[in-house]
Amino acid sequence: MCNGGYMENPFIYGERVTGEYFWDREQEVERLKIDLLSSQKVFLISSRKMGKSSLVATVLEQLEKQGIITVYLDLEKFSSYDKLLERYLNCLMKHEGPLEKALDFIKQLLPQLRPEIRLDEEGKPFFSFGLGRSPQGIENIESEIYELPGKISEKKGKKIVIVFDEFQEILDFNGKHIEGVIRSEVQRQRNVGYVFCGSKKHLLADMVSSPERPFYQIGPIMRLDKIPGETMLRFLKEKFLSANIDVDGGCLDQIIEFSRGVPHYVQMLAHRLWDYSVSKGKAEAGDVQKVVNELISQSFEEFQSRWGNLITSKKLLLKAISVSGGQNVLSKKYMTEHNLGYPSSIRRTLLSLMDEGILDKEDGSYFFTDLLFCRWTKDYVE
Ligand SMILES: Nc1ncnc2c1ncn2[C@@H]1O[C@H](COP(=O)(O)OP(=O)(O)OP(=O)(O)O)[C@@H](O)[C@H]1O
Ligand SMILES: [Mg+2]
Repeated sequence: MCNGGYMENPFIYGERVTGEYFWDREQEVERLKIDLLSSQKVFLISSRKMGKSSLVATVLEQLEKQGIITVYLDLEKFSSYDKLLERYLNCLMKHEGPLEKALDFIKQLLPQLRPEIRLDEEGKPFFSFGLGRSPQGIENIESEIYELPGKISEKKGKKIVIVFDEFQEILDFNGKHIEGVIRSEVQRQRNVGYVFCGSKKHLLADMVSSPERPFYQIGPIMRLDKIPGETMLRFLKEKFLSANIDVDGGCLDQIIEFSRGVPHYVQMLAHRLWDYSVSKGKAEAGDVQKVVNELISQSFEEFQSRWGNLITSKKLLLKAISVSGGQNVLSKKYMTEHNLGYPSSIRRTLLSLMDEGILDKEDGSYFFTDLLFCRWTKDYVE
């Protein structure tokens, strides 16, 4: 995109992408749209940075154009459950115009809810439960709030789609109880589609696949896989070409290779390479390595302190995986080669590193969720 002679960087990372910044995923977009149009309750699960939030943002944009009411809530952002419920109520009500009007709406639909209108720091009005001051406990209002989407869709005669991003976070607030409350409300809502998404794969998969959990078989599970290297390469070539930047053949392949199919890293390295090359009009052999080094040096201290906080068994294992990859970690050869100790303790260490979000596992192979931290561990740790 050319803006007054200045070429805007066409690569974005660190936020949800949609429109021209969102590549590929046509099938996933279609499938999710179809499921939501039929008001399914979908679990969307993938490793970190694979593009879940961008996929749902893209789908929500398209559904809104069809007149569907959409609500997006990122559960990672809340320090307490009542804050989460409060925000959810405000999101649900944002389509009702001025709050006074919305309050009438709530009084009619859910007379027990009785929220009050307060002003936030910027002086904007919002619904609050005033929980600190009233005897009205969370338990009395939570099921009403989860019931609200069904009531709104009935009253307005419209479909609604709701996304709970990083849904596994509810487990940090009395999760088992909340799962039960949400399940019993959402399963009755015939005109409301839901997406429950997140990157803590085993926590989410457990919720839907364990018969004793409330969410058992609630709806389809969608797993977001890597974007094929050739597809991303095509997008990269197109963008650099349209800016007349002459890219040395190997550069873009190196980006794809480093990123291992994770779109976040492709966008991040391409963004930096673009900045590096746009004024010279070319990207040369060695530039991608320079960009990677620069990114690592910016996070060097953070990586050092992350490393410093790890116990020795974790350090050993991470170093091994950074050098030899995460396949066959429990084979005799691998364990001996890297001096890892007993399989039972390695298993415990692996689980703990996955719980902390440092490692993830796909098709039996363990990998670093942060590829720059992986490279740092490989290159800078003895
Ligand atoms: N389809 C896509 N096309 C191009 N870039 C993408 C795509 N999906 C994701 N990205 C890139 O990856 C980054 C992370 O995407 P997003 O936040 O959607 O992933 P996520 O799976 O929700 O991550 P997290 O695990 O952190 O929640 C985006 O900022 C963007 O740079
Ligand atoms: Mg996300």
